[in-house]
Amino acid sequence: MADRPVQEVPRLRFEPLDKKRHDRTAFSCEQESLDRYLKEHATQEIKKRVAAVYVLTPDDKTIAGYYTLSQYAIEAGDLPPELVQLLHLPKYDKLPATLLGRLARSKKFKGRGLGELLLMGALKRALEQSRIIASLAVVVDAIDENARAFYRRYGFIDIPDRPNRLFLPMKTVAQLFPDIDTG
Ligand SMILES: CC(C)(COP(=O)(O)OP(=O)(O)OC[C@H]1O[C@@H](n2cnc3c(N)ncnc32)[C@H](O)[C@@H]1OP(=O)(O)O)[C@@H](O)C(=O)NCCC(=O)NCCS
Repeated sequence: MADRPVQEVPRLRFEPLDKKRHDRTAFSCEQESLDRYLKEHATQEIKKRVAAVYVLTPDDKTIAGYYTLSQYAIEAGDLPPELVQLLHLPKYDKLPATLLGRLARSKKFKGRGLGELLLMGALKRALEQSRIIASLAVVVDAIDENARAFYRRYGFIDIPDRPNRLFLPMKTVAQLFPDIDTG
């Protein structure tokens, strides 16, 4: 992960999406379906408690990027057996995880390291929350091969037989944030 001049964008902050303040209509990334999700579905999913949506904003209005988090259950059989052994996981059918369902950066903020900033923000929040409600991995749904390549750079592992799904053990996430006490 290279050092990037994220400080060029002033006062970037993560905030829960607030439809009264954040301008969803102006958001445009490389995936039209992720623009549409933010405009048409995100606030409904918040209301229905299907997803928590966080935006990255420089001014409390402009959306530079967003991500969504939800609770999730991994089918134990989807995990590589070596990993189950390595982590000494119990033999449950399903295991607790966190779903990073969507992540996107506005084209206006391209080239400033915001994809990485968004991913690190999401992983940090997932790690912090895992102390309150246990989660042993962050699972992502990569929208295409580009997204898969992006996630693999950060150590995400493909789930066999689930072409778009990758995961990162929470143990690995914890190593990225040694200052967070995860017990
Ligand atoms: C994927 C996405 C978030 C990346 O954002 P970004 O702002 O371009 O990413 P960054 O500039 O922070 O790049 C971080 C690192 O990932 C790399 N990277 C970025 N996009 C990549 C891709 N498609 N494939 C491989 N690596 C990629 C960068 O080269 C950089 O690595 P470096 O530090 O070694 O130079 C952005 O392209 C996007 O919003 N795409 C549309 C939505 C999408 O595909 N979301 C992801 C899955 S749902």
